Amino acid sequence: MKVCVVGTGYVGLTTSVSLAFLGHDTTCVDLDKQKIDTLRAGHCPIYEPHLEALLEQALPHLTFTTDYAVGVADADVVFIAVQTPQLDNGNPDLQYLRSAAESVAQHLRGDFTVVVNKSTVPIGSGNWVDAILREAYERHHGHRPNGQFAVASNPEFLREGTALADTLYPDRIVIGSDSQASLDVLNQLYRPILNQSFTPPTVLPRPAGIGAVPLISTDLASAELIKYAANAFLALKISYINEIAAIAGKVGADIREVARGTGLDARIGPRFLNPGIGWGGSCFGKDTAALIATASEYHLPMPIVTAARDVNHRQRTKVIDRLLDELHIIKGRKIGILGLAFKPDTDDLRDSPAIDIANLLLERGARITLHDPVAADRFRREQPTLAEHLTNRVDDVFDDADAIVVATEWAHYRDLDWAKFAPTMRSPLVLDGRHCLNADRLTELGYRYLTMTAPAIPPRSDTQ
Ligand code: UGA
Repeated sequence: MKVCVVGTGYVGLTTSVSLAFLGHDTTCVDLDKQKIDTLRAGHCPIYEPHLEALLEQALPHLTFTTDYAVGVADADVVFIAVQTPQLDNGNPDLQYLRSAAESVAQHLRGDFTVVVNKSTVPIGSGNWVDAILREAYERHHGHRPNGQFAVASNPEFLREGTALADTLYPDRIVIGSDSQASLDVLNQLYRPILNQSFTPPTVLPRPAGIGAVPLISTDLASAELIKYAANAFLALKISYINEIAAIAGKVGADIREVARGTGLDARIGPRFLNPGIGWGGSCFGKDTAALIATASEYHLPMPIVTAARDVNHRQRTKVIDRLLDELHIIKGRKIGILGLAFKPDTDDLRDSPAIDIANLLLERGARITLHDPVAADRFRREQPTLAEHLTNRVDDVFDDADAIVVATEWAHYRDLDWAKFAPTMRSPLVLDGRHCLNADRLTELGYRYLTMTAPAIPPRSDTQ
């Protein structure tokens, strides 16, 4: 099929590369010429494992352009995957979506095109995009549209860091439209994924046990709500385990055992029960805020989702409390933060807990040193003030430090030569904000090992 994808962010680029890999003739449109030039040269403007390798393989089916006319003209499907950043009132900013929809309408030439909204938008936006398309179509073509296009929603469930695997081997595909013809086109587009009939890329073999992928083919509003309901549930699952972690700390229970014992119940499931400093990223914060904002338009409070946000926010300040419990005074202390990205395998810093923690420590008068194995360059660009505290050498983070906070569970940190660093610290205290380090080994090496819930385990006396 002939596909056009507007926007080359995480979602747009992963969608384009995956569809091109499946053999669809795919054109990516982005107004950012620099991004398009980078992509044409076969490079990825974002860090996402395997994306560049797959891009290279899919290049024969890929076109990159800044010109809407090239991609939209006779496309069977146009995906709009532009950014929808959060406004101060909690609602997403839809200006990019509006202008993308207007440009798409202007260039539609085919007999029938499905215009798919891939950006996460408030419930009801499908109708809104439809209205914009109609108005713009009439303005540019001089007559009302008559079945040339229909709008569909196809929410995205990919996670940064595993975006390609999530796209090629998804738990489900959701499509929503009030036009049966659109649903049929999308069903055909996704057939190779639904049937798992494609030859897997060598870099991403098909996981064992994957059968046919379930398809939810529904109306527009339901598809839109599924996205919000899923993200809000994941966010509250994490906040829930963090709330249980707080009581686990008080009663002396091991939260990892509690999470394991709870998650093995098939009705609950083991994933997204990792306790720690909580969630960040561009999705959970924005989507829970948008869900609450939409509900408030119907005078509906959302106490559960609101509480999930509160608990998550509290985790960030709790880091300071945990350090205070151990160090008593923060002022003048040197604290190192390992990890700045909101999670490993991405350089994305949006709503990263590490940034709030760094600012809170500075407010308390601490001296901080920051490190990230991948996101440092982006951090310099996006956080110029905090970047004064950034170092490329992990040794600097430990040197003379009173405590280290692990904020992102990069494999790189697990594999550090921890034995080498303990003697270089003023006090070898590690707050493992992600439960990612080996507590026994660290205490053996002379560290006081602390988590968000459990008090520091003192090092073994024979190593002191
Ligand atoms: C999330 C959803 O998982 C995707 O399904 C969805 O498509 C995406 O949002 C989106 O709406 O675009 P993402 O934000 O990339 O994906 O990252 P996640 O892997 O969900 O992690 C989010 C945050 O939760 C991270 O900060 C992570 O460290 C934290 N987390 C995750 C925990 O604190 N504990 C856990 O058990 C799991």
